[in-house]
Amino acid sequence: MTKLKSSSVAVFCLGVFLASCSDKEPAGDEPAASKPAAFAASDWPAYGGQNDGNRYSTLEQINRDNVAELTPAWQFDMDNPEAPQTQPIVVDGVMYGFTPTLEVIALNGASGELLWSFSGPDGPSDFAGPSRGLSMWKQGDEAILFAGIVDKLYALDPANGQPIAGFGDDGVLDLRTGLPGDTSRFYISLASPGVIFRDSIIVGFRTGENPPAAPGDIRAFDVRTGELVWSFRTIPAAGELGADTWPDNARELQGGANAWAGFALDEKRGIVYAPTGSAVPDFFGGDREGDNLFANSLLALDATTGERIWHFQAIRHDIWDRDFPSPPSLVTVQRDGQAIDAVAQPSKQGYMYLFNRETGESLFPIEEFEVPPSPIPEERAATIQRLPTSPEPFARQTLTADMLTTRSPELNEWAREVFGTFLSAGEFTPFRTDQPVVLIPGFDGGAEWGGSAIDPDKGIIYTNSNDIAWTGQLAASPDGMGFVEALYQAQCAVCHGIDMQGAPPEFPSLTAAAETLSADEIENIIRNGVGRMPGFPAFAPEAVAGLTDLVLNPESAGPSSIEEGSVPSASDEGSAVPYRFTGYHRFFDPDGYPAVSPPWGTLNAIDLNTGEYLWKVPLGEHPELKAEGMENTGSENYGGPVLTASGLLFIGATLFDQKMRAFDAATGELLWEYKMPYSGMATPAVYMVDGKQYIVILTSNARNPKGEQGSAYIAFALPE
Ligand code: HEC
Repeated sequence: MTKLKSSSVAVFCLGVFLASCSDKEPAGDEPAASKPAAFAASDWPAYGGQNDGNRYSTLEQINRDNVAELTPAWQFDMDNPEAPQTQPIVVDGVMYGFTPTLEVIALNGASGELLWSFSGPDGPSDFAGPSRGLSMWKQGDEAILFAGIVDKLYALDPANGQPIAGFGDDGVLDLRTGLPGDTSRFYISLASPGVIFRDSIIVGFRTGENPPAAPGDIRAFDVRTGELVWSFRTIPAAGELGADTWPDNARELQGGANAWAGFALDEKRGIVYAPTGSAVPDFFGGDREGDNLFANSLLALDATTGERIWHFQAIRHDIWDRDFPSPPSLVTVQRDGQAIDAVAQPSKQGYMYLFNRETGESLFPIEEFEVPPSPIPEERAATIQRLPTSPEPFARQTLTADMLTTRSPELNEWAREVFGTFLSAGEFTPFRTDQPVVLIPGFDGGAEWGGSAIDPDKGIIYTNSNDIAWTGQLAASPDGMGFVEALYQAQCAVCHGIDMQGAPPEFPSLTAAAETLSADEIENIIRNGVGRMPGFPAFAPEAVAGLTDLVLNPESAGPSSIEEGSVPSASDEGSAVPYRFTGYHRFFDPDGYPAVSPPWGTLNAIDLNTGEYLWKVPLGEHPELKAEGMENTGSENYGGPVLTASGLLFIGATLFDQKMRAFDAATGELLWEYKMPYSGMATPAVYMVDGKQYIVILTSNARNPKGEQGSAYIAFALPE
């Protein structure tokens, strides 16, 4: 383990918590070894900045008066254009991040010079999906850097990137450790990093969207040994609280309810807040009758034992893929002259939840109401759902004809006609087979994985949001499909469409994949996944071969030569799903722009003391539309904001204009923007080295096929 310069280590306390800072020290009878790690105020030591998920820096060198001079200080280019969505951490002047091929890199924070790089035993992978951050444990002279590469957690020496032998198996822990059953069937990936509490690292994971998927157990491992410290079952075992909201044996037969977006930690109270996603499969719940606790919930767990303190389930029996998509944030608000420690959680639908951190009591009223039943006979949708009545949602709800595009009268007419074929009846409208249901905001929020920034002194939360419509529909699985086709429809159609046309650019069409991919490459993709696509390790070789054949010869779809039942491990795995989702479709006009009126993306400042908006502005533009005079449309955006004590809100996120922006946090006024070579599809980090403040962001045009393809970390600073 490494010796870190202690000269630059200072205890860091956020202003509002100053009074309680000394309480953070463990009680006198606890061993000194359990002291929380202390990092310098100039560091950005955790995903979200600090463990409280505030995305807030006390640095003030860059301020309203000089921000206009901000300029790139260095750029670290990488070969692969994919977007690992990483918010780097920075400790003692060194930036730790991932490359798009999931190598861990350490860069000199002042120069961008590569200090070391590390990749797992298989070397860099083409692109194994997102890895949004890293975790650092530090105590006195000891430090350990934790890096999740798909289903492995590495403990590295931050000085040189070498695995630390005492942890797990020679420095690597299989993240299937402690999960139930035959875990080799599960695709799992540590897409958002773990949070460090004392001598444990607490992790969730991402898993497949269809069975078989791992039950979303939240686990804590010992930072030195990798031993399992505790595990919380988000799908309860028989007899546990919530087990009656599932069919029997849910832990064996169901999966998901996983905490994939990351955590917030109240170090003083020893409580970790974990948002969870939906149960699998996302869109058909006929096999999981009941409310499905603790899916779609915010959980408060004792960070020492994993015991549940309280929970709030936002969506009962989710059949819309309405995960809690963002890490929560800790905040202190004023109510009737009293300071209340609270936890804020944004949702995909565009609602902001706020709970008392200790009791789980909602600090805004939550209203229950009846929702429509599903027309699918096997589906028992929940009859009652609930939503907060304040703050107002930060994205539009329920699409109506007067919200359609007005880019031209012809397009408006086109959109009205298409809209007339949709069912638009609000966010709790169950999907059906006879008509697409339109949802606004769509499957990518509202809020997304980038998280929110918090002003800890004022109780203000800053959240960016998508604001476009998507549609969804179910299809009954026809009788008489061949095994391979049934497997395709059950496992692949959700993203690549029932006709293999996909929803490009995000979900590629498979009809022409044979032109660019060999059989080996396709088999490899199906087994291991690629980018946003999960792998399917449970499939028997015959199933993978059959699907590969189907991709190579899409016109061959139809009864297949593989006999039903001859591939037991795969035929168990969903070819029996009676209804499948026909694919994710954005409601776009024929030119590929949202068919709803702008703004298509926004940045919001909400005063959590009152629930009122301080301001709301469109975020992002489409350069070609801007050239035609259509400015300030907002655009799809992924990756969150960061706030500095000097009152600046920094954000990249916008997919198409490739800009980094600084807003006046008090007014929403745009103070500075800079066009980067690629889009800043990640959350930035703020730090200081040798007296100079930097803002660094990972850029990539992977989600913007019209842009030049590439990726780079770019750090901004004031000129000399
Ligand atoms: C959750 C969504 C999802 C599911 C389910 C899914 N895929 Fe994919 N797939 C993707 C995405 C996204 C990509 C593009 C990944 C990238 O390059 O970043 C992709 C890429 C591919 C490619 C490569 C296409 C090319 O032209 O490069 C193949 C082949 C493929 N998928 C086959 C399958 C098969 C077969 C299944 C079912 C067993 C499946 N996928 C299930 C999302 C999915």
